[in-house]
Amino acid sequence: MKLLIKNIKSLVQADDGSRQKVSGAEMKILPCLNDAWLAIEDDKIADFGKMENFSGISDWTNLQVIDATDKLVLPCWCDSHTHLVYTGSRESEFVDRVNGLTYEEIAKRGGGILNSAKKLAEATEDELFDSAMKRIHEVILQGTGAIEIKSGYGLTLEAELKMLRVIKRIKENTPIPVKATFLGAHAVPIDASTGLSMTKQKYMELLINEMLPRIAKEKLADYCDVFCEQNYFTKAETIRILTEANKYGMKGKVHAEQLSHSGGVEAGIECNALSVDHLEFVNDKDIQLLKKSDVMPTILPGAQYFLCLQYPPARKIIDAGLPLAISSDYNPGSSPSGNMNFMISHACVHYKLTPEEAINAATINAAYAMGLSKTHGSIAVGKQANIFITKEIPNYSFIPYSFANNPVETVIINGQLIVDN
Ligand code: NIG
Ligand code: FE
Repeated sequence: MKLLIKNIKSLVQADDGSRQKVSGAEMKILPCLNDAWLAIEDDKIADFGKMENFSGISDWTNLQVIDATDKLVLPCWCDSHTHLVYTGSRESEFVDRVNGLTYEEIAKRGGGILNSAKKLAEATEDELFDSAMKRIHEVILQGTGAIEIKSGYGLTLEAELKMLRVIKRIKENTPIPVKATFLGAHAVPIDASTGLSMTKQKYMELLINEMLPRIAKEKLADYCDVFCEQNYFTKAETIRILTEANKYGMKGKVHAEQLSHSGGVEAGIECNALSVDHLEFVNDKDIQLLKKSDVMPTILPGAQYFLCLQYPPARKIIDAGLPLAISSDYNPGSSPSGNMNFMISHACVHYKLTPEEAINAATINAAYAMGLSKTHGSIAVGKQANIFITKEIPNYSFIPYSFANNPVETVIINGQLIVDN
């Protein structure tokens, strides 16, 4: 099966495939080829070039041709941070926040993560799978072509395994790559034997001695994450969990510095994590330490927007010479949307990222944050053909400009037309 896209107004983020991530001033550069063609063979990008150098079609066998006049072609968004396996929405907590309560106050009343954990305990694997697949389909329509999904609404051995099995089933049934992350350390659960909050010590033992070994044995997780935050897990606990996870070959990720400065970035660096995510409260010392590491700083504009948190210092991070990734945090509590187009727009409007920086953050750098930058995140010969064709738009800056709209018209995953809006 061959696919040729011709007359592309601009082929965006086209490179030679050698870049794993872009940092600092490089993030302002978005390599584009105007008036271009792109050839796909089977599931891979076969070649591309400028129309003026197009040699014509010699073999029409099994060839589909798409005319992209006035349209752009981009690599699909990579979303390296989601919690999209869940059941039940939490709009009543949203209304509570509108009426003045904070995320922390709602959590103390039994809302928040424990609310979703309660709902998840009652759901079957089939229900969780069906609702998650709807969300996957929804985000593919918005241009997402690779996704990471976390557990963390289970908080018991059985329920965490249930979530991770659902994620495994999603991996097997969706054409886009899925990375699974074990987030047992998302909150301390209610102890079924007492009806009260479990002691931290008891939950840490359960997590380290029972959950991690079992999950590793069943090969259910690629990564391990910890919510490093006041009232959740401390820096020392984060280091302990990630150190154990590393022994099983699971790299770390950290929910870091979201609601306060809690040491998550330092913990992530110390454990050689793949990424540290959120970063609203990241400080100058953290930024300096990140420069000596390979950890990908990742911002989640949806959660910052929805919880009305202070802005992450995204400009400062890039201006310090660091890379930056953008992801959605799609989850029922702090970001009930996985629309990467909106995430990019919010980052440009409010954090003052340029469109080039935001698109780099949501493609090549987010691919890095899920271990996929060799195969995804840019348009390069030999990379996976996960791309989208936009509607008729003037240029790539129109994507963040046209906020809350969907610029995507056609999505191609593994060389197959998945959807034609
Ligand atoms: O990334 N911060 C912790 N976890 C999620 C929120 C989860 C929830 O509220 O259900 C987040 O924002
Ligand atoms: Fe999250």
